[in-house]
Amino acid sequence: MTEDLNSDKIYISEDQIRELNVTLARQINHDYEGILGPDEYVVVVVTLKGAMFFAADLVRHLNFPVRLDFVRLASYGAGKESSGTVRFVKDVEIPPQGKHLLVLDEIIDSGNTLKFLMGHLKASHPKSLKVGALLSKPSRREVEVKMDYIGREVEDRFLVGYGLDFDEKYRQLKDIYALD
Ligand code: IMP
Ligand code: MG
Repeated sequence: MTEDLNSDKIYISEDQIRELNVTLARQINHDYEGILGPDEYVVVVVTLKGAMFFAADLVRHLNFPVRLDFVRLASYGAGKESSGTVRFVKDVEIPPQGKHLLVLDEIIDSGNTLKFLMGHLKASHPKSLKVGALLSKPSRREVEVKMDYIGREVEDRFLVGYGLDFDEKYRQLKDIYALD
């Protein structure tokens, strides 16, 4: 048995998520057609753990060569809040220098995590650097971050499912639920 939530609380359904991924992939495919030279590929940098489902679904709609890499970041905020103090639990393994990087995150909230990650990656001089997120909560932003692809903007609700967790629970759910 999964730890299912009441289906009344479905905020974004599995079908809607699929649509968001297809639309995002279409934009990304279009843009990289003009960016990638022959024999070039994109290093997709996936933020663990939350973005694993999003990234797994999205990259299978991309029509150019990719390499996958993973980072895991931790921030010292308590509970549902993140903070400005972010650190790496796991850094990239593919050297970013001179590569086309596409960072994928499942949701951008305060922006602190993404800002830290982008600063770190930029410092190693990639050939290009873009960001895609399935969801964004603009009303929660504390720091400005450049985002190239956003699946959907959402209001300030705490969301779980499709990789998003509360205390590590609910990541496996196919739909996205609002907990509050
Ligand atoms: P930020 O640094 O505040 O932008 O936080 C980003 C990270 O916090 C996301 O990548 C998620 O892992 C987590 N997060 C933000 N909002 C939610 C939510 O509504 N549900 C679950 N996790 C969230
Ligand atoms: Mg995340």
